[in-house]
Amino acid sequence: MVANHQLCLCLALILLLLPAVSRARDTIAPGQPLRGNDTLVSSGAGSFALGFFTPPGSNNTYVGVWYAKVSLRTVVWVANRADPVRGIVGDNGGATLSVSHDCTLAVADANSTVVWSVSPPPGAVHGGPCTARIQDNGNLVVSDARGRVAWQGFDYPTDTLLPGMRVGVDFAAGKNMTLTAWASPSDPSPGPFVAAMVTSGDPEVFVWNGPNKVWRSGPWDGVQFTGVPDTVTYMGFTFRFVNNAHEVTYSFQVPNASIVTRLALNSTGVSGGLLQRWTWVEAAGAWNLYWYAPKDQCDTVSQCGPNGVCDTNTVPVCSCLHGFTPRSSASWALRDGRAGCVRETPLDCTNGTDGFTVLQHAKVPDTTSAVVDYDASGEQCKQRCLRNCSCTAYARANLSGEPGHRGCVMWAGGLADLRVYPAFGQNLYVRLAAADLGSRSKSKKKVNIVVAIVVSITAVGILAIAGFFIWRAKRTKARKLGLSTWSAGSHSKEGLNEGKGHGDDLDLPMYDFETIAEATEGFSTDNKLGEGGFGPVYKGKLEDGQEIAVKTLSRTSTQGLDEFKNEVLLIAKLQHRNLVRLIGCSISGQEKILIYEYMANKSLDYFLFDKTKSKLLDWQTRYRIIEGIARGLLYLHQDSRYRIIHRDLKTSNILLDKDMTPKISDFGMARMFGSDDAEINTLRVVGTYGYMAPEYAMDGVFSVKSDVFSFGVIVLEIITGKRNRGVYSYSGHLNLLAHAWSLLNEGNSLVLVDENLKGSFNSDEVLKCLKVGLLCVQENPDDRPLMSQVLLMLASTDTASLPTPKQPGFAARRAATEDTSSSKPDCSIVDSMTITMVEGR
Ligand SMILES: *[C@@H]1O[C@H](CO)[C@@H](O)[C@H](O)[C@H]1NC(C)=O
Ligand SMILES: *[C@@H]1O[C@H](CO)[C@@H](O)[C@H](O)[C@H]1NC(C)=O
Ligand SMILES: *[C@@H]1O[C@H](CO)[C@@H](O)[C@H](O)[C@H]1NC(C)=O
Ligand SMILES: *[C@@H]1O[C@H](CO)[C@@H](O)[C@H](O)[C@H]1NC(C)=O
Ligand SMILES: *[C@@H]1O[C@H](CO)[C@@H](O)[C@H](O)[C@H]1NC(C)=O
Repeated sequence: MVANHQLCLCLALILLLLPAVSRARDTIAPGQPLRGNDTLVSSGAGSFALGFFTPPGSNNTYVGVWYAKVSLRTVVWVANRADPVRGIVGDNGGATLSVSHDCTLAVADANSTVVWSVSPPPGAVHGGPCTARIQDNGNLVVSDARGRVAWQGFDYPTDTLLPGMRVGVDFAAGKNMTLTAWASPSDPSPGPFVAAMVTSGDPEVFVWNGPNKVWRSGPWDGVQFTGVPDTVTYMGFTFRFVNNAHEVTYSFQVPNASIVTRLALNSTGVSGGLLQRWTWVEAAGAWNLYWYAPKDQCDTVSQCGPNGVCDTNTVPVCSCLHGFTPRSSASWALRDGRAGCVRETPLDCTNGTDGFTVLQHAKVPDTTSAVVDYDASGEQCKQRCLRNCSCTAYARANLSGEPGHRGCVMWAGGLADLRVYPAFGQNLYVRLAAADLGSRSKSKKKVNIVVAIVVSITAVGILAIAGFFIWRAKRTKARKLGLSTWSAGSHSKEGLNEGKGHGDDLDLPMYDFETIAEATEGFSTDNKLGEGGFGPVYKGKLEDGQEIAVKTLSRTSTQGLDEFKNEVLLIAKLQHRNLVRLIGCSISGQEKILIYEYMANKSLDYFLFDKTKSKLLDWQTRYRIIEGIARGLLYLHQDSRYRIIHRDLKTSNILLDKDMTPKISDFGMARMFGSDDAEINTLRVVGTYGYMAPEYAMDGVFSVKSDVFSFGVIVLEIITGKRNRGVYSYSGHLNLLAHAWSLLNEGNSLVLVDENLKGSFNSDEVLKCLKVGLLCVQENPDDRPLMSQVLLMLASTDTASLPTPKQPGFAARRAATEDTSSSKPDCSIVDSMTITMVEGR
């Protein structure tokens, strides 16, 4: 009897303990609220938890959703963000989250006082009892007895967009889904920063700080937002933009829960932007910030005012559209462009003599009050704009090239918040009076006046600096400098001149600023060759007749100085036929200048992506270029005394000398690595999207294999004559890598070859290069060959024995699955992305 009794007690105890052990329930029901010290965990992969939390530094308790498997507590959604339970979590064991019979969700404190509640709209509930469940995608869903959704957290985002969540307007449901940053890291209540979709005109996403617009995405161009040039996808990410009568929304999806990623609006981001995309890197136990906005000066709304154009690669960043002149030359000269620009010649609508000038690579102006016609073709747009006297510009509304997607956007009045990119963006057609259309001489004169003002203002400063340097030059006659002192971290002027004789003594000729200014005709625009990684590049000629390329470190660039030193140190130590040679440098005051041998044929992209110039690159030349780049890279990775990862290989960094010998340049991003570091992790990802390996772009992990990936992209671009980025017009939505891979698998690769080769190429060599290129861009870095293996493969004549490439990285990048309404007729528009180099005289 006694024994029996004990058994009963035991069983009762076990029964009592059981729920405590397997506590991971995911649902609450009427009469079974969630208590303050308890959490719900989603079933399935168990990705999300819902419970009470107190932010660090706060005295309040909130109900929130966070990642169950991420070791850093990261709250992605808050129910009662403005209506907390007073006191911290530990003291709030009695607080509850409950759901009522009729679907009302409520948070109450320990005294059962309700501090926050939501009820579904009348008619949404079809009989109780209701339940609330945390789903494995992070959505808290309240459903009625029939399982219909009465209310869900995804319709009320906090500051984070999770995969599957939408931002934008659902007209049918009368909902506007926005992101609102926390007031501070200790206070989830709504702060001043809001990200929301503006649906008037051509819809785009804006970020506000209170009443002020801070950033805008630019409209969706059918593939991406035109103001987000660095959109990347990874492992099957997809972006979805829906624009129809029912909703205008943006969302993104991941193929499965193993990819932990979020887009958040973070008011404390400052240098890391406001909108941030993060991925969780389990190996590092950290979040990796892989994209953010605003990113640079020109991202700030209306930096250059109406009809002004912002370009981070020029100094100053603001200039006027062709045919326009600064409204206030005084403030313009003081580098304040916000007043914008005015037309030189009024439009002449009645006589019909107006025309259009093209601004290339533009982020189109603010579209809030623009007029959009999703049915018009490019030519119809032009005609319509010309007929309407208030129309000042137009652009195409959809560049995806998908059937049924075309249309145009037309602007009236001043064109606000314009910027240009080196090689992104779209064509903007700006209306001008006939007088301003043809020659640029008139506008040049006015620009010259502005330049004169700028020059006279800065001249005073330069004179002062120059005076100082003349005085100093007299003091220290040294014309050469030991650069090794830089590597020791000393970059004071004393260190530069007196630090000879330590470690590797690298004597690099140092030139006077005046000598360089003379050689480049005062850094004249006519001598400008293009834009380097951190400033403009000029052509020059030294007194002895030697031609040089002069690379200046632009003063607006913040990271430039370290990168400049990095480049000098690295490149001064490197000597190879396929690396660009540094001749000297010049440092005076703020100006830092590198002097290189001059490359008569500019850069590879200058030829490759230009319809006429690419004809000059026959297959033999292209093949030699591929081999040359491979040798240069092998030298960097393995053969030089310093093992170097370049990190920013791209066609614009491959320079060509007069014999078309390729030379790798731009070492501003390069890193030296020890022989035992197989890979390096960085949380500051630099480089160029489109050439960047997926593991680097997403996780910040780089190794020699990331350079191999970029090399593979370059090889494929050389074969096809097309950019990896910007090729969306192929069948389906494949990018260049995926397209090449699928054609290889179909045994149909030769259709890829650049038409400009006119069928004259060695198909064995092409196939070999194609295979090598695809081996280099495989998703998994371990699958990619080393550069030594690449050279062996290039040298082999047996293409068939090469391994079969696996799926390339970023292959799953797909264009938007934009809703296709039947009224949008077929029209393929491919905006050609052209060269980054500015043509010399
Ligand atoms: C609950 O009520 C008591 C008595 O009115 C009060 O002292 C206490 O602060 C209340 N607690 C909360 C969490 O509001
Ligand atoms: C998740 O998706 C990635 C990419 O598609 C894939 O490599 C991985 O195997 C998937 N994981 C699971 C658990 O399905
Ligand atoms: C907000 O941004 C800062 C700076 O980039 C970062 O340190 C912080 O972790 C971010 N907060 C969240 C919640 O991601
Ligand atoms: C239209 O053309 C006529 C003749 O060339 C000219 O006199 C007139 O000023 C023009 N109108 C406008 C608005 O420019
Ligand atoms: C002319 O353009 C303005 C502004 O873009 C627009 O509001 C107006 O409807 C247009 N008029 C016609 C007739 O298309």
